[in-house]
Amino acid sequence: MKTMHSRESEKTPGLANPFIVGNPVPPTHFIGREHEVTTIKQNLRGPGKGSSAISGGRRIGKTSLLHYLKSLEATQDWKALETEHVFIYLDCLSISPFTAARFWQKVLHLIEPFANAKVKRQVKTLGTKTRIPNVDIEQLFDELADAGKLVALLLDEFESAISDTRSDSADFLNLLRSLINRPLRGLALIIAGRDPLHVLCRDIFAPGSPFYNSFVFVPLGLFSRAEANELIDRALEDTGIVFDEDDREFVFKISRGHPYWLQLACSHLFDAYRSREYKDHHFDESIDRQQAKQYVEDKFRIQARPHFEELWKTCTQEEKRALVAVARRSQEQGLVRRIVAAIRYRKLTREFNVDLDSLINRSIVVKTDSGDFDVFSPIFARWILSEGRKL
Ligand SMILES: Nc1ncnc2c1ncn2[C@@H]1O[C@H](COP(=O)(O)OP(=O)(O)OP(=O)(O)O)[C@@H](O)[C@H]1O
Ligand SMILES: [Mg+2]
Repeated sequence: MKTMHSRESEKTPGLANPFIVGNPVPPTHFIGREHEVTTIKQNLRGPGKGSSAISGGRRIGKTSLLHYLKSLEATQDWKALETEHVFIYLDCLSISPFTAARFWQKVLHLIEPFANAKVKRQVKTLGTKTRIPNVDIEQLFDELADAGKLVALLLDEFESAISDTRSDSADFLNLLRSLINRPLRGLALIIAGRDPLHVLCRDIFAPGSPFYNSFVFVPLGLFSRAEANELIDRALEDTGIVFDEDDREFVFKISRGHPYWLQLACSHLFDAYRSREYKDHHFDESIDRQQAKQYVEDKFRIQARPHFEELWKTCTQEEKRALVAVARRSQEQGLVRRIVAAIRYRKLTREFNVDLDSLINRSIVVKTDSGDFDVFSPIFARWILSEGRKL
């Protein structure tokens, strides 16, 4: 099968790398997540006008999903609804230091362009106050609902909006809950954070029904093979470069379908094939494929190092011990060492059930096809054993 080089790409030496690594992907390049999008849509459009809580580890695609959801408001499907949905994206990290008062000032500012004259006047008056009374905010969303509008507030980095050390966190959550539960329903929330909502709010004391009760949970996991293939097919369209089955297997193996790591691996593979193409137009495919993979692994390892360090630092001591055990089990060479590692792993996973769950929620550990656990990437597993343990 033709692997990487096509005569087409020779004509376009400036061929741009089509893979997106790091920034949230624009809605036009958004891949997969069909189930998650449907869940959030149905919840929001249903009679309950329900709220959703997206969760997932670093770079799993939370912001990309929020941007994609926002882009839906322009579709005929949404425009045809009786209630007008106004999607507002807000990165809670952009409010620094975060206070409830500053949050509401910002939300009001973002709502104003969509409001009718009456609500605009209200927004202007409230905008002059340093502290907006809860009742005024409730009234404002009731007015919006009365005018046939539903504000769908997309709150990114939600963890930065609440903190157990800030005294107004409980009050802030209580107000949000009361707003999304009001009979008139002028507000729905779609929030995104690293941990599931109940974990995020665990240390905030708020009497009454817990905040997370009002949400549908939407955990984001790894891409399936079909989603990974779709990503590759869409990116390579019109580039003249082809990844064959073997290439796909390779990039899937080192990323395990984690969207960011998959894009990173694909991006390096693309570079390898593209630059090789221009160096010598004639080459032995079998050698080149090997070289390209080695190139990708080397690049991946270098580029991933700060990310691995960051992942490692966010783990608790117990999680680190569990990770070492899991990594050892998959990486140890030699029969005796493998058996010892497997025994140790079994003992430790019994002890570390809770920590494994948390690592799985963040896609650092994944469940394999055979029902076992493994570190999401063999490159990260090797890093844990060689460098992580020293940190
Ligand atoms: N649906 C998607 N389609 C294609 N690529 C994606 C998708 N979601 C995520 N990615 C890849 O993952 C990277 C990170 O995405 P994004 O910034 O949305 O993640 P995040 O979870 O918000 O990250 P962070 O934890 O840093 O806030 C993107 O640059 C892209 O490479
Ligand atoms: Mg993000």
